[in-house]
Amino acid sequence: PEASALCGKTVIVTAGPTREKIDDVRFLSNYSSGKMGFAIAAEAARRGAKVRLVTGPVNLPTPPGVERIDVESAAGMLAAARPLFDDCDLFIGAAAVADYRPEAPVAGKIKKKDAEMEIRLVRNPDILAGFANGRKPGQVAVGFALETAGGIDYARRKLVDKRLDLVAFNIYDGRTSGFEVDTNALTLLGRDGNVTELPLLSKEKAAAKLLDAVESILPR
Ligand code: C5P
Repeated sequence: PEASALCGKTVIVTAGPTREKIDDVRFLSNYSSGKMGFAIAAEAARRGAKVRLVTGPVNLPTPPGVERIDVESAAGMLAAARPLFDDCDLFIGAAAVADYRPEAPVAGKIKKKDAEMEIRLVRNPDILAGFANGRKPGQVAVGFALETAGGIDYARRKLVDKRLDLVAFNIYDGRTSGFEVDTNALTLLGRDGNVTELPLLSKEKAAAKLLDAVESILPR
C-alpha cells in the first residue's frame, strides 16, 4: 500500500477536558473523557506520524509511540502547546477546552457562608484559533465542534471564524455521540465546501476516517 501522508509528519493533538480552579480544592470542568483525542493520536502514530498529545486530566493509557504532555487548565494547555506550534505540520484540537475560568482562584479553600455566592468568569484563550491564526503556509488546522442537533451551521461558522481547514461536527445527543461514550457520529466539513457525513462509529474508526480526510488535504 501507498505510504500514509501522515508518515513522518509532526502532529499536535489536544484532548480531554480542562480544569479551571475555583480554589485549591475545587474546579470547573466538563464531561470530556479524552477518548476521541486519544484515538486520533493512536491512529496518527500508527500511520507513522510523530505525535504530541497535550491532554487534560483523563483516565486513559498513553497510546504506543505517542509523546504525552499532561496539563490541567486551558492556560496550561496553551503554555504546553504553543512552544510546539512552529515544528508542527498538523494541529488537531480535540480537547474540550473550558471557554471560561474563574477570574481570581482563591488560595486555600473557600469557606461556606449563609448566603449566595458569585464566581466571576473570564474568557479563556482559544488554543486552536491561536495556532490557526499564527501558522505558516502548509500547516494544517483541524477542529471539533460539539453541538446539539441542528448545530451544523455553528460548525460551519467555526470553520470560517477560526480559519480552519477541516471541522468535525459532532452531534451531542447525550447517548451515542459526544462525551464519555465509545461511539461518535461525525460530519466532516472541509474549507473547500466538502461535506462528509460519517455513520455512528467507534471512536477508533471515526478517528481513522477523520485522518483519511486529513491525509487528502495534507501537503505531501
Ligand atoms: O468554539 P468551540 O469551543 O466550540 O470550538 C471547539 C474547537 O476549538 C475544538 O477543536 C477545541 O479543541 C478548540 N478550542 C480550543 N481552545 C479553546 C476553545 C476551543 O482549542 N479555548
